[in-house]
Amino acid sequence: MKGIILAGGTGSRLLPLTKMMNKHLIPIGKFPMIYYGIERLKEAGITELFIVIGSKSVPLYVDFIGSGQSLGVHVSFLIQEGAGGIAQALSLVEPFLAPNERFVVLLGDNLFHDSLKPYLQQFENQGDGEALVLLKKVKDAHRYGVPVLDEQEPERIIKIEEKPRKPKSSFCVTGIYMYDTAVFEHIRHISPSARGELEITDVNNAYASKGLLQYNILNGWWTDAGTYESLHAARIKLGRRGKR
Ligand code: G1P
Repeated sequence: MKGIILAGGTGSRLLPLTKMMNKHLIPIGKFPMIYYGIERLKEAGITELFIVIGSKSVPLYVDFIGSGQSLGVHVSFLIQEGAGGIAQALSLVEPFLAPNERFVVLLGDNLFHDSLKPYLQQFENQGDGEALVLLKKVKDAHRYGVPVLDEQEPERIIKIEEKPRKPKSSFCVTGIYMYDTAVFEHIRHISPSARGELEITDVNNAYASKGLLQYNILNGWWTDAGTYESLHAARIKLGRRGKR
């Protein structure tokens, strides 16, 4: 299975640091943020990676990651021009995948402890054209995509509400997604949101509306690192050792 890390975006919540470099290159302990996603994929046996980056900081990515060889993976970089959203970034990978191929997608600012192995196994057992997202219980669900869960069908998500004022559960949808190439058809059918971006939540809701969206829950710690507060939390978890 291939791994895709989405590391574009403007990082506006981490200004002024992101004036200088892309968010995913900000150091957390010994490594830039992007390292930790690569490491989680590698641990799960996924070594063929695509990393979608913006046009900012390209030389820094290449300096640190290169071909991926020194990190034990093979990396191809794709450039997302402008801020078209997470789903648009993902669509750039379509030409490089085989029909019906399955893959895992990480948002590069999501840092987590669990091994992906058992979740990949669950996804392998799902049917073609289905998707799997990972959830985490959080105190501030309103900051994230929040799932509405189906009590009759314990593994299915009814729908996801993006940054709701009154969350219907205390889970957030993390930036860990598993799809096959059917996702690109869903991306073609969504429209830009109010902020002019193709939203991953709209893609996941296309799956959910057809009963094709399963979930599982992360056991270990998880944080995004897209704000100074969450970056600080990530540094406490990862910073001192420089590894998990
Ligand atoms: C994105 C997704 C959101 C998800 C979050 C996880 O939000 O849209 O559904 O919960 O990532 O980090 P963003 O960080 O782009 O606001």
